[in-house]
Amino acid sequence: MKIITDLKWMEADFIEASKFFEKTEDLEVLHAHSEDGNLLTDVIKIGEKEYRYQKEISYKDDIEKKRYVKRYAKLSLYKSLCEYLDQKLVWGALTGIRPVKYAYTIGENWREKMSEEMLVDESKLDIISRIIDEQKPIFTSAKDGCDLFVSIPFCPSRCLYCSFLSNEIGKEKQLDGYIDALVKEIESVKPLLKNLRSVYVGGGTPVSLPLNLLEKVLKAIGKVDCEYTVEAGRPDCIERQTLELLKKYGVTRICINPQTFNDKTLKIIGRKHTAQDIFDKYELSKEFGFSINMDLIAGLNGESFDDFKYSVDTAISLNPDNITVHTLSLKKGSKLKETTERLAEGEIAKMIDYSVYKLINSGYNPYYMYRQKYMAGNLENTGYTKKGKACVYNVDVMEEITDNVACGANGVSKKLFMEENRIERYGAPKDIKTYIEKVDKIIEDKNKFFLTTT
Ligand SMILES: C[S@@+](CC[C@H](N)C(=O)[O-])C[C@H]1O[C@@H](n2cnc3c(N)ncnc32)[C@H](O)[C@@H]1O
Ligand code: SF4
Repeated sequence: MKIITDLKWMEADFIEASKFFEKTEDLEVLHAHSEDGNLLTDVIKIGEKEYRYQKEISYKDDIEKKRYVKRYAKLSLYKSLCEYLDQKLVWGALTGIRPVKYAYTIGENWREKMSEEMLVDESKLDIISRIIDEQKPIFTSAKDGCDLFVSIPFCPSRCLYCSFLSNEIGKEKQLDGYIDALVKEIESVKPLLKNLRSVYVGGGTPVSLPLNLLEKVLKAIGKVDCEYTVEAGRPDCIERQTLELLKKYGVTRICINPQTFNDKTLKIIGRKHTAQDIFDKYELSKEFGFSINMDLIAGLNGESFDDFKYSVDTAISLNPDNITVHTLSLKKGSKLKETTERLAEGEIAKMIDYSVYKLINSGYNPYYMYRQKYMAGNLENTGYTKKGKACVYNVDVMEEITDNVACGANGVSKKLFMEENRIERYGAPKDIKTYIEKVDKIIEDKNKFFLTTT
């Protein structure tokens, strides 16, 4: 869809808001915006049809005015496309990755505003409402707290759908060098960790590290008195000794991620493990008393509604504390997209609806949610939890309510300035070699970032 707008700064948002409509041909959409005092007018032309929307606004300063101009222009575009294409989106004109954070930002009337001004469907507003309730204890205790993230961007092999930074561990020549640099960085941030609420060792697949290197990382983190997650991830990397090591160093929560329980799909997506491996490693992990999360993906190539239903039902039958349901998000030109048939987006929406219904009726409540670019059906990822078992780290990160001290390649640290409603970020290089070379400078910069950013 080609969009021409007289508000150049709107282009990216326009494209984001419009690209999920199921349309077969490219549309040329013209947009013009004008203001007469407090009256905003947006005129949108699609083919021979012209749509005109007006809105009276009141605002306290230019920043607020710009926000309204943007919001109503996007809404106008969305409404005109709905009419022209005779189609609606469940998230309406809402773009951005954090719908729940957006609701918090609006405040008390979030439900009415998101319904009236963004045309978000009631079913999604119900989920946001449940999430806000479930998050309450974590949300209210967040003030002045921080979380630690440790990045292990290595995996035994690359899954074909994966959108995360991951390097094949067997081909990595500088693994020891990376771990030494990482350990140095972890040690250096310890004085910054005041009111530590959670630790998350993620990736990648941290447990794909040889045990001696994994132990170096766990030792550097040391004893913590809070939630401590290691993204064990792939069952083909989990052995009894791995779990013993995690337990020894005080890890409290691990992820064992099926993605799907169908062997045919596991082959298609390049997971290199079977459904039976998931059952076996889950049983083994339970012996150690970890809180366990399982990730699933809706819309995987080659899967029908019944395949996905089977995965949701099977995950529930295993009774983990958390289940996270992702919607497949494939970038243009991704290997998986090119090689196998994808489902119609309406089918994926049916899958997500089923997961919401089934999980809620099986004692799992949604507790965090985010959206990504290129998501099938413009849907969402949602984490579900058993009562009182919500992962603090996920809530803190998603709602951006605490500082995040991130160590390792591609780690993005965040510092909050609550009063000014502002967040500063510091990103480490993605490339392993660059990270190792620059670690001393990263340590110096990050200390400055946390101690002196104003
Ligand atoms: C950081 S990844 C690491 C997980 C771990 N290495 C594993 O594979 O089990 C976290 C989760 O993101 C999800 N994910 C990764 N790529 C995705 C994609 N393209 N679309 C949807 N979900 C994706 C998967 O469910 C995955 O378990
Ligand atoms: S193992 Fe996990 S992080 Fe690694 S490629 Fe697969 S999905 Fe991505």
